[in-house]
Amino acid sequence: MCGIVAYIGERQAYPILIKGLKRLEYRGYDSAGVALLHQDNLNIYKKKGKVDGLVSFADDFDTTSTIGMGHTRWATHGEPNDINAHPHFSGDDHLTIVHNGIIENYDILKQALEQQGHVFKSDTDTEVLIHLIEEVQRSQGLVLEEAVRIALTKIVGAYAIVVIDKKEPNKIVAARKSSPLVVGIGENEFFLASDATPIIEYTKKVTYLNDEEVAVVHRDGTFQIKTIQNEELTPSFQYLDIQIELLEKGGYDYFMLKEIFQQPKTVSDCMRGRLNAEEGWTKLGSVENNIEKFLQANRIIFVACGTSWHAGLVAEYLFEELARIPVEVEYASEFRYRNPVLNENDIVIAISQSGETADTLAAIQLAKERGAFVYGVVNVVGSSIARATDSGSYIHAGPEIGVASTKAFTGQLTLLTMMALNLAYRKGTIAKDFYRQMVVEFSTIPDKIQQTLEDNNHIEFIAEQIRGSENALYLGRGYNFPVALEGALKLKEISYIHAEGYPAAEMKHGPIALIDEMMPVVVIATNKSAYEKIVSNIQEVKARKGRVIAIVTEGDKQIRKMADFVIEIPEVEEIFSPLVSAIPLQLLSYHTAVMRGCNVDQPRNLAKSVTVE
Ligand code: AGP
Ligand code: GLU
Repeated sequence: MCGIVAYIGERQAYPILIKGLKRLEYRGYDSAGVALLHQDNLNIYKKKGKVDGLVSFADDFDTTSTIGMGHTRWATHGEPNDINAHPHFSGDDHLTIVHNGIIENYDILKQALEQQGHVFKSDTDTEVLIHLIEEVQRSQGLVLEEAVRIALTKIVGAYAIVVIDKKEPNKIVAARKSSPLVVGIGENEFFLASDATPIIEYTKKVTYLNDEEVAVVHRDGTFQIKTIQNEELTPSFQYLDIQIELLEKGGYDYFMLKEIFQQPKTVSDCMRGRLNAEEGWTKLGSVENNIEKFLQANRIIFVACGTSWHAGLVAEYLFEELARIPVEVEYASEFRYRNPVLNENDIVIAISQSGETADTLAAIQLAKERGAFVYGVVNVVGSSIARATDSGSYIHAGPEIGVASTKAFTGQLTLLTMMALNLAYRKGTIAKDFYRQMVVEFSTIPDKIQQTLEDNNHIEFIAEQIRGSENALYLGRGYNFPVALEGALKLKEISYIHAEGYPAAEMKHGPIALIDEMMPVVVIATNKSAYEKIVSNIQEVKARKGRVIAIVTEGDKQIRKMADFVIEIPEVEEIFSPLVSAIPLQLLSYHTAVMRGCNVDQPRNLAKSVTVE
């Protein structure tokens, strides 16, 4: 899931590359490096660690150049160290490459190249690719783009690559398959990157490479795209409208905190034009355009990973209870390999913030091969999943930089709740009065999220009480069971406290053995339908000296008497509960992680977009 950036034009490349790498660092930060070509000198500066470390290291070197590339790595082959950092040289040092993805057949290619005399310095799969390109170019006497194209016909796996040849200093060659690559078109200059964020301050005119496409950009402002099968293509352009200030922290210590506090607005933005409280309706254009498919669907299968999978679990409760449509929720990584029973009467809904998650993309391809209608719920405009699905909706949450997903989760829930309510109304499985009442209540959710955020200081105090814990349990029932899973994921991925989410009733089937006075147990106890049951679950925990942090509906008096700590949220209809009960769990994990000195935006071992398997 690394980040790639490259530049060719009249400006100094180095500052553009460094600024771009910092914008992409959320994609991986095991190591960072740049390659700069200047007057026949192809210099590579690269270091284990973050971009700031690279900048300090490169301070002593000549970074003059108007053509170059940069990489911030999330290692898949070869540990994070200076040698395995990208960019990588070819054997004769006249080619250099940066790569996002996995060359699955790198080992067999490496053996063949070694037999031809190639010597490798790193343990990476990427270095094998640049040596292969070198071998093809040398043995067949090809220009760079042809050598890249032919080499890629021998590759199995995923790639977004940028290649520079010091003997051809007026061009950059790029290609992609499964990993994203955007080309920004300026005035006699080009910018290439893994996403648009390093590009948009220079130009908003972009084109997204598609799978198995090779692009050549020239210093004179011309560029060509062809397939690896050598078919010439005509590029299609888009003009982006991302505001650059959305990519800044805006006074917050971390992007995650900024994004948590953006949620009243992002939920409202997701509703805009899709929900009307005065007239009492909610609808999505892309659902309307495919309404017969949705109304006649035998079942809906959600495919996703991580937090997006948790959103799918909430959707299962919503779609089955409201629209009476059978639902299954699948980890994309399992779905893609288990040979599922699937046909044209099924609807597959892929949920993804980044729109680049490799497993989710693969699940989409499988579903389309089996004839299912595939719908996308995505945040990043123009992302691979947005382009791979038959139809879909954007959640309009804006760029989510923090690795831990927050505003995207509530954006996904908002969109899925609108879908479920609309389909239920269209199918007649809910009464018109109830539908209108729910739409009106739905429109108040941004304010209820805002009200919950105002409890931030109290939640920070509670975080202080659990910061030293080694383990934690999160319990919920019904709509709040997936929220318990989400709360546990938030805590574990940014504070490194081992946390597990369970259906509250599951405690007595094993997990209750873990309870002692050292174990914080977060219980989401806002449910109306299972209130007495969740009260019993809290009593079971207290009987074993567990420390209970309860998320309750404001005014609750019963649980306040038994829990160690209580966080109140405004009263909401049960179907909207996850949209509000997730907020205190996001803040609890954030403050706990900060108190533990963790890097909240860039947790160890993680990256924002998992574009490799
Ligand atoms: C969420 O906090 C995690 N960072 C991770 O689980 C994420 O939700 C998962 O990788 C899916 O990403 P996507 O939504 O971009 O597909
Ligand atoms: N497979 C390459 C490496 O391990 C690239 C990894 C990535 O895309 O983050 O260096």
